Amino acid sequence: MEALDFSNGRVFSDRGRLYTASLCPGRRIYGERLTNIAGTEYREWDPRRSKLSAYIASGGRCVPISEGSRVLYLGASSGTTPSHVADICGDGRVYCVEFAQRMFRDLVGTCETRPNMMPILGDATRPEGYSVFVDGVDVVYQDVAQKRQAEILCTNMEAFGARYGMVAIKARSEDVTASPEEVFRSAEEVLRSRGLRILDNRGLEPYERAHAMIVVERC
Ligand SMILES: C[S@@+](CC[C@H](N)C(=O)[O-])C[C@H]1O[C@@H](n2cnc3c(N)ncnc32)[C@H](O)[C@@H]1O
Repeated sequence: MEALDFSNGRVFSDRGRLYTASLCPGRRIYGERLTNIAGTEYREWDPRRSKLSAYIASGGRCVPISEGSRVLYLGASSGTTPSHVADICGDGRVYCVEFAQRMFRDLVGTCETRPNMMPILGDATRPEGYSVFVDGVDVVYQDVAQKRQAEILCTNMEAFGARYGMVAIKARSEDVTASPEEVFRSAEEVLRSRGLRILDNRGLEPYERAHAMIVVERC
């Protein structure tokens, strides 16, 4: 098991598979494979089930999340990727926002496995609705797969004083008539116009079709 050289070495690789060290040994969140080595339990992180894993598996190394990070995670669904983010954050905190009641119920169960995950039933387009639960954060991670993803990222980074942002843009949700490349380019323009520097913009094929991960830092 080799620690990768970002996120303070809290993401691991072994024979082409990615892992995080589990904060809750013995518990699976989505049927993932568990491996014990020298007293540490590692959870396999499947790039076909998680866009953040797909980004790393595609060579992405701009992951501004590490031990102690406070992360606002928008579009948490049932908590698959947030649970790996929580493994990375350790003593930090992951505020998990989801607006679909059905997914939120499963998310609450996932959050019960990790003391650093907080489930929030809220709409990512209305940060004022959950600001009472969220202190300042270091990073906003956004995967809501709806229109105006770049704007939603900026609004939340501004509302919670985040220095870094990551957004998994789904081209088909933004505009079915435009090419994915056009959609990703116009998302970059929005992010720059709101005072953000692009650190990476990387397509997620072959794991996710017509998706890109854009990583930004406040200038
Ligand atoms: C692609 S899924 C997220 C998967 C999750 N990030 C993961 O990797 O485990 C998108 C989620 O965003 C949620 N969503 C969409 N629009 C939202 C909004 N405005 N506010 C909060 N959640 C939203 C959907 O209900 C859905 O669960």
